[in-house]
Amino acid sequence: MILLLGSSGYVGKKFAELLDCRNVPWMTLNRRLSSVSAREALSYLRDQNVSFLINCAGYTGKPNVDACELDKGNCLDGNAVLPALIRDACRELSIDWGHVSSGCIYALERPGGGGWREDDAPNFSFRQPPCSFYSGTKALGEEVLGWAERDAGGEWPKWEHESDPEGYVWRLRIPFNELDGPRNYLSKLQRYDNLLQARNSLSQLDDFVNACWECVEKKLPYGIYNVTNPGSVKTSDVVELILKYAVNNKNYKFFDSEEEFMAKAAKTPRSNCVLDTTKLQDAGISMRPVEEALEWSLKNWKRES
Ligand SMILES: NC(=O)c1ccc[n+]([C@@H]2O[C@H](COP(=O)([O-])OP(=O)(O)OC[C@H]3O[C@@H](n4cnc5c(N)ncnc54)[C@H](OP(=O)(O)O)[C@@H]3O)[C@@H](O)[C@H]2O)c1
Repeated sequence: MILLLGSSGYVGKKFAELLDCRNVPWMTLNRRLSSVSAREALSYLRDQNVSFLINCAGYTGKPNVDACELDKGNCLDGNAVLPALIRDACRELSIDWGHVSSGCIYALERPGGGGWREDDAPNFSFRQPPCSFYSGTKALGEEVLGWAERDAGGEWPKWEHESDPEGYVWRLRIPFNELDGPRNYLSKLQRYDNLLQARNSLSQLDDFVNACWECVEKKLPYGIYNVTNPGSVKTSDVVELILKYAVNNKNYKFFDSEEEFMAKAAKTPRSNCVLDTTKLQDAGISMRPVEEALEWSLKNWKRES
């Protein structure tokens, strides 16, 4: 039995769909149950024969991360306190876990070029400011699961686990797929008045959940995995594809600079970053290149009714 937390959310629903498709039995805990005393929750779970926990619960801020700046308590609770509680409960029950984290704990590219690797210390976090409150709490979430910054002697600091990790940290980044909706990056680009030009790694949502589940099925070593489609794209590349597939032929406008974006449209800086996906590929899990995943999603676009 899989215990799926956050099954009512954007990412959690995709995991639920995948488990249903594969006839994998799963259960969830609603908030009422998860907030009863820890002891009661543990004794309830002990009777459920849970073999693995997938944590998709977290606080994202709606419609975007700016909202987290106005609700810091709940953001900290969902992204940093909750993972710590889950880790403790899983330890007590001997259940292994997979936690959905985010690539937003990095900004730009790795010093020297290329994407950030799993063992690079976050550079968009409370420990390496500036960062958004959301990103800070997501980096703390990895920290409470056992990862910590270590001095690498002159190089970029390492992000290493204190002992052997007891689960997966799956880093998702700017999810999209073919289903129009307020959480889909491709829909957001069509709805904003002005766009920020930036280079990013992205995760096609179905590819993301498939890759995470493959980690479990293939019993990959526990640890952090960047689960993004290989490659990176600029905002204008994505807009060109939206136009190429005639999904929305509006006149897309861009901010002149990040400074203009921050002054006119944002309350907190965005992470915009490129992640390295070699670790997942070397482990035998392949995801489509990001351009291919974007083209497929736009070719199969289903407008929200
Ligand atoms: N969507 C993205 O762009 C994105 C990108 C990268 C990473 N992520 C990460 O992916 C995870 C899921 O995101 P999402 O987009 O699916 O978010 P979502 O649609 O807002 O869903 C969040 C889920 O978490 C539950 N939840 C929130 N706070 C909780 C708490 N304190 N205790 C228990 N349950 C709580 C919610 O339950 P209720 O229904 O009861 O509120 C809901 O089921 C998050 O950790 C997020 O940081 C998301």
